[in-house]
Amino acid sequence: MTTTAALRIGLFGFGTVGQGLYDVLRRTPSLRTEIARICVRDRYKQRAAPARMFTIDRDEILDDPDVDVVVELIDDPEAAFDIVSRALESGKAVVSANKRMIASRLPQLLALQHRTGMPFLYEASTCGSIPIIRNLEEYYDNDLLQCVKAIVNGTTNYILTALHSPQSGGYHEALANAQRLGFAESDPTLDVEGYDAAFKTTIIAAHAFGVVLNPSQVVRRGITAVTPFDVSVAQQLSCSIKLLSTVQLQGDSLSVLSLPAFTPNGQHLATIQHEMNAVQLTAAFSDAQLLVGKGAGGSPTASAVLSDIAAIRHSYRYEYKRMQQPVLPRVDHGIVVGVYARATETILREVPFRSIEIDHRSSAGNYVIGHVRLDELQRCTAFLDPTAFIAIMQQK
Ligand SMILES: NC(=O)c1ccc[n+]([C@@H]2O[C@H](COP(=O)([O-])OP(=O)(O)OC[C@H]3O[C@@H](n4cnc5c(N)ncnc54)[C@H](OP(=O)(O)O)[C@@H]3O)[C@@H](O)[C@H]2O)c1
Repeated sequence: MTTTAALRIGLFGFGTVGQGLYDVLRRTPSLRTEIARICVRDRYKQRAAPARMFTIDRDEILDDPDVDVVVELIDDPEAAFDIVSRALESGKAVVSANKRMIASRLPQLLALQHRTGMPFLYEASTCGSIPIIRNLEEYYDNDLLQCVKAIVNGTTNYILTALHSPQSGGYHEALANAQRLGFAESDPTLDVEGYDAAFKTTIIAAHAFGVVLNPSQVVRRGITAVTPFDVSVAQQLSCSIKLLSTVQLQGDSLSVLSLPAFTPNGQHLATIQHEMNAVQLTAAFSDAQLLVGKGAGGSPTASAVLSDIAAIRHSYRYEYKRMQQPVLPRVDHGIVVGVYARATETILREVPFRSIEIDHRSSAGNYVIGHVRLDELQRCTAFLDPTAFIAIMQQK
């Protein structure tokens, strides 16, 4: 790809991120890009761009030999996979933000990149504006990375922040406010049940430790069961509840979780408020480092897409260096972790505690804090019970 000619972009999607990218590209002429065509679903919607740019026929982009880069920003993961595959097969570079599609189809996407030799970049898929994937690929490549711990979902962080306020009206009010402010979608299931976080955790595990997982292998729970009682217990213990994605290497074993966590208030991740995202990287020699930024929204997400487009101009591609290590870590959830479990008497009895530190019973709520093996916790009925709240205890 030359560095002088204008890069011709075929854009799929003109929603929050697609429109954000359109605006951002118009404000960065130095990148020398030109949007050749924009493919959308609805032919009749009013658009904040000239009508002649739009099409509902994906082939107008995919079959156009003058389109250099396909930027896929649609909300349908199946259609997105089809578009990305066909674009790569046609010799086009591709940029995407679709974490669900990428996390669920990583083996096929790796094979496609290998077979076609074309770059496929997706910085915006994980933590929006935070440059985490390229940092994992390049900067941490020669350091002994031990752990990535992150707040990767702005909706749940917004809700949890609201629940810690003395004026909080509870989970449903916080969710309704998040929806009113545009942080949460009308169907917020993927966010509040932790699926979105699990998709991003899968992508982080691939780039940080070279391990390709199905998102279902992430130990996952969302925040829908959290109550003001749980928040008050956390606060009494000088902690804040956060939905934390953790990918941790111990020896050659890797644990991959996305779970609510009692996070000590002295730790950086406990201070991340509202819809912000943050990634804490711990490596052998650099110790802990923190990246903080906006994880969603039109312009912040578009800024990561823009950075990928600029990288493609310089022939950048992911090398997935961690996947080429002689010995890859194996996923092992047999680790013992500290856990807070609040549930009915009957359900609490099902939690396979190996040791108990606090066993609390009151009319306000019953909870136990103790230690369990993560794989045993994951299999117990309490873990699946929608009314029980389970959180990992982060070490002080
Ligand atoms: N929103 C964020 O802050 C954010 C952050 C990070 C990553 N992402 C990811 O970025 C992607 C886009 O998100 P978004 O929030 O911008 O979505 P959105 O606002 O819902 O917009 C989706 C766009 O995709 C178009 N579309 C849907 N199916 C299509 C198809 N089969 N062919 C062509 N166009 C199609 C829609 O067309 P119509 O306009 O005609 O309906 C719409 O323009 C998603 O993968 C999302 O997970 C979003």
